[in-house]
Amino acid sequence: MSKDTNRRDFIGYSFAAVAAVGGAASLVGMKQVWDPLPSVLAGGFTEVDLSVLKAGEPETFTWRGKPIFVLKKTSDMEDNKRDLVVGSDRYTVAIGLCTHLGCIPAWKKDQWKCACHGGEFNASGQQTFGPPPRPLDLPPFEVKGNTIVLGNEGPEYKQIADAMMA
Ligand code: FES
Repeated sequence: MSKDTNRRDFIGYSFAAVAAVGGAASLVGMKQVWDPLPSVLAGGFTEVDLSVLKAGEPETFTWRGKPIFVLKKTSDMEDNKRDLVVGSDRYTVAIGLCTHLGCIPAWKKDQWKCACHGGEFNASGQQTFGPPPRPLDLPPFEVKGNTIVLGNEGPEYKQIADAMMA
């Protein structure tokens, strides 16, 4: 064994150590690039407190950049298979985009009216007039007490989605 061999070994170990640290740093950097941005993660779910809604006055929330209509129905609004029942109250939960060409309908006189081509949807989100080919779409949601979490497919969502398909 000579001094040269030891020096060569030392250089080899040093190079391997630098390469290992560089590789680990690269992996950390790649993970940060691939992971969704915090704003995207936060945008995945939207919580809606149902207790603040007034009957007959729908509110519009935003979930993943889409308007979501949530209407607490009045007692004289007719029952529908897509009603979400929480306690003694019934709600309509719908993506607020017209199913014709995607305009955002406005709430007028107990129905959503689409200004683009005159489509109309009743308080249950079902199309009643004009070109829309189907009811307002149902967003995925989960019920947690008096709150719905948009973005999760809970049992209530699946039950309503199945009823809408039947
Ligand atoms: S986009 Fe609503 S009726 Fe055409």
